[in-house]
Amino acid sequence: MRLKAEDVFRPGSFPEYTYVSRKSTASGLPYELRLQQAIKVSGFLTSLVGPSKMGKTILCEKVIGFENIVEISGADFDETTDFWKLVSAKVGLSYEGQFASEKILPDSGDKYSKREIFALTKDKIINYYKEKGLVLVIDDFHYAPEAKRMQVAQQLKDAIRKGLKAVVVSLPHRADEAIRQNSDLSGRLSLINISPWAEEDLKEIAKIGFDKLGIEIEEDVAAQIAMESLSSPQLMQYICLNICILLEISKAEKNIVKQEILEQAYRFTTVNFEYGDVVAFMRKGPSTRGKSRNRFLTRDGSECDIYELIVKSIAENPPIMRLEFEDVKNRIYSLIPDEHERPKPQMIKDSLGKLQELLNGREDIFKVLDWKEEVLYILDPLFLFYLRWGGNEK
Ligand SMILES: Nc1ncnc2c1ncn2[C@@H]1O[C@H](COP(=O)(O)OP(=O)(O)OP(=O)(O)O)[C@@H](O)[C@H]1O
Ligand SMILES: [Mg+2]
Repeated sequence: MRLKAEDVFRPGSFPEYTYVSRKSTASGLPYELRLQQAIKVSGFLTSLVGPSKMGKTILCEKVIGFENIVEISGADFDETTDFWKLVSAKVGLSYEGQFASEKILPDSGDKYSKREIFALTKDKIINYYKEKGLVLVIDDFHYAPEAKRMQVAQQLKDAIRKGLKAVVVSLPHRADEAIRQNSDLSGRLSLINISPWAEEDLKEIAKIGFDKLGIEIEEDVAAQIAMESLSSPQLMQYICLNICILLEISKAEKNIVKQEILEQAYRFTTVNFEYGDVVAFMRKGPSTRGKSRNRFLTRDGSECDIYELIVKSIAENPPIMRLEFEDVKNRIYSLIPDEHERPKPQMIKDSLGKLQELLNGREDIFKVLDWKEEVLYILDPLFLFYLRWGGNEK
């Protein structure tokens, strides 16, 4: 049977036909091997940390397999969630319950029934996991409330000593302290850091996938898509799928990916991304309490204030997720032709600080930037991609 594009390129689920194995930058070993090794060390907890959309969940699924993986999410927890109740419910064990027993009393012959409440012990649950060869993966640990993360870490400490195999997956910086900086767990951790994808590895996804579909793609076209994918395999899968959809409806040649189709595919890819509010919020910046902000005349003839300039500068070529202050400044300066009319470096720095503060006060989807130690990190590749290709914000 001929494969369909949506089976080959899968931005939202396990990519059976386009799975690419990468080597860890630190050890030079494939990530799959690192994770396999980590899980095998009994009495150790595995902490898998990496930026958003870099394939953390897929790696766990690949290595542990769907038969053996038990996935729970940090989002499954609120302040009152009982860890063991959740861990047992996920494998269909009832943690607490009642059973009725009936006895006939020997003397009188009367029937006597009683209801008893039982609760599974932790040990029973752990044993169940061990017997079935199950591995507990606590994914997106950063979604669990902060206080809960510490409690879960404590439960895990005890459980791994008793032989439970567990992997905790989280984003860097935000939520790994409960695990990585927890002195109770020190000496009992296997640490795996997932790095952003190199363009070479991203290119592989396109090459393997289009080959499976009998579609031709040249090296440099694949390389351009890889660059726009901003080190995210998810974006790569998404763009490739959209290229296929465009090819299907196009009247031109269907069996080759040409340069001309790329821009249309990028724009088409942003359609389902919901960053419009984030971008509008950033461009607006903090309230000026009625005062008007300085405006700068840009090379395209529009007048922008400092916050609009910052947003524009992030979207400039080449797409980069980590910008030194000098880069941001140079990008802003190159937007403003008149060199006497450019904002002072301090003003740019202050505005970046304020912007970061504003975004931090908002919901998770707004946490797209990190400005620290004179470096601007774009945390979410999908956001940067949207900024470059989405809506009319450019
Ligand atoms: N090894 C891989 N080979 C090919 N594609 C991959 C690979 N890993 C991930 N992907 C693609 O990227 C998508 C996102 O991967 P995944 O959900 O594992 O990321 P994540 O790091 O867990 O993201 P999040 O931080 O949002 O939880 C997958 O659905 C898949 O399309
Ligand atoms: Mg994930």
